[in-house]
Amino acid sequence: MKDFDGKVALVTGTTGIGLATARRLAAGGAAIIACGIDRAANAALQVVLENSGAGALVIGADVSVPDQVRDAVAAGVERFGGLDVIVNSAAVHPYGTAVSTDFETWNKAMSVNVGSIYLTAHFGIPEMVRRGGGAIVNVASVQGFACQQNVAAYATTKGAIHTLTRALALDHARSGIRVNSVSPGSIRTPILEKAARGENGTDADVEAAYKRFGEAHPIGRIGEPEEVAELIAFLCSSKAGFCTGADYRIDGGLTAGIGVK
Ligand SMILES: NC(=O)c1ccc[n+]([C@@H]2O[C@H](COP(=O)([O-])OP(=O)(O)OC[C@H]3O[C@@H](n4cnc5c(N)ncnc54)[C@H](O)[C@@H]3O)[C@@H](O)[C@H]2O)c1
Repeated sequence: MKDFDGKVALVTGTTGIGLATARRLAAGGAAIIACGIDRAANAALQVVLENSGAGALVIGADVSVPDQVRDAVAAGVERFGGLDVIVNSAAVHPYGTAVSTDFETWNKAMSVNVGSIYLTAHFGIPEMVRRGGGAIVNVASVQGFACQQNVAAYATTKGAIHTLTRALALDHARSGIRVNSVSPGSIRTPILEKAARGENGTDADVEAAYKRFGEAHPIGRIGEPEEVAELIAFLCSSKAGFCTGADYRIDGGLTAGIGVK
């Protein structure tokens, strides 16, 4: 018996941590409903999941748009018969201060990074209640605790995810629904690659940047998406039955210190 046999999981974001999580949950026996805006990545994930033998429905959806999330949840429930797990990994990462960030960019960060978590909960929790419970994991960030300069909108969304996680956990605990977040440090994914290339996309030596980022973490390296997926899978599993309303850092010790050597 595998840890997710008979379970149905909705994952937002089809690259990076979302991709690794979809693969991990599928390897555990779950049927996967994946939603992403990147059509090439969606097509690749559909093939990967089908080849692994998992039930897979990968949907091209903008997870900040209510109708698209509602329809994705409905299509997944129709295909697989219910919903047990939600992992919210989709996000955008704009750079800027409050002065240099325009209102449209600010609102987009809020609606993709935080609004999508509200939307998957709004449409997904009633389905979980019908199954007698479930688990939600939201991907936040160390930037929700202590942030860098020039990421005002992004960091704000990650702090909001910590708060929304607690609110969802309290409101739905008695329905058997556990809600937690994970806060990664630097993880080798497309978002980090963008950061490695610099704000203007001009720095080419991505591996050198990863080494530099890794050296800022006490463990001395950046993390891998599969490492985050393993923590997410634990939190989604019955082994984490007493875990709810909490954040779990996976940052190589980054936020344990005060950054002075
Ligand atoms: N990689 C890191 O270093 C790091 C660190 C801390 C937190 N995180 C968080 O991890 C999560 C996953 O990011 P990642 O590192 O895997 O990077 P990623 O860029 O691979 O994943 C983000 C995904 O969100 C998707 N997306 C963006 N807007 C969308 C929309 N409107 N609708 C649907 N999908 C949309 C993108 O297409 C992409 O697949 C994010 O929440 C990110 O903030 C990443």
